[in-house]
Amino acid sequence: MPRPPRLLPVRIIGDAILRQKASPVGAPDDSLREFAADLTLTMYERDGVGLAAPQVGVSKRVIVVDPHWSKDGRSKQPVVMLDPVIESSAGQTETEEGCISLPGIYANVERPNWIKVSYTDLEGGRQSLELEGYHAVVIQHEYDHLDGILFVDRLGTIARLKLKRRLKDLERTACNGENFLRTD
Ligand code: NI
Repeated sequence: MPRPPRLLPVRIIGDAILRQKASPVGAPDDSLREFAADLTLTMYERDGVGLAAPQVGVSKRVIVVDPHWSKDGRSKQPVVMLDPVIESSAGQTETEEGCISLPGIYANVERPNWIKVSYTDLEGGRQSLELEGYHAVVIQHEYDHLDGILFVDRLGTIARLKLKRRLKDLERTACNGENFLRTD
């Protein structure tokens, strides 16, 4: 029997792990499935529509998304993606983005409006999806985390300057949780 999922501490901007390139995971096993359940629980508890493993201190290529979930209303439909690859993208859209690792920071970000993404599911099968609009934006945001990129990196110079002081304040107070890769 898998253990019940647990809430993981979220890393805040300023934490070095958010800037690392995460490693591929390959074929899923039970411990990875347990981790995916922890990541999913943490996303919902922090009111996120997506969360990437580096945000909980695990530098592996795992993301979970549920773009249409909202606290009151829709049922939960999380999709866990292992080793996702954005195969192609097209179009352009601008969306106000936020991030659990940058509390209180919101800004409009331009990204492609359409993507084709492939990923390994929790049973080990390779899947492919074509998505547009908000759903495509959420996956691109989470995918960026796997390469050490935060949404504020994608802002123009002026928008970034406006946020500079608040980002510096956040970085100063970044809390470093414990490393959850440790299993012993
Ligand atoms: Ni984020």
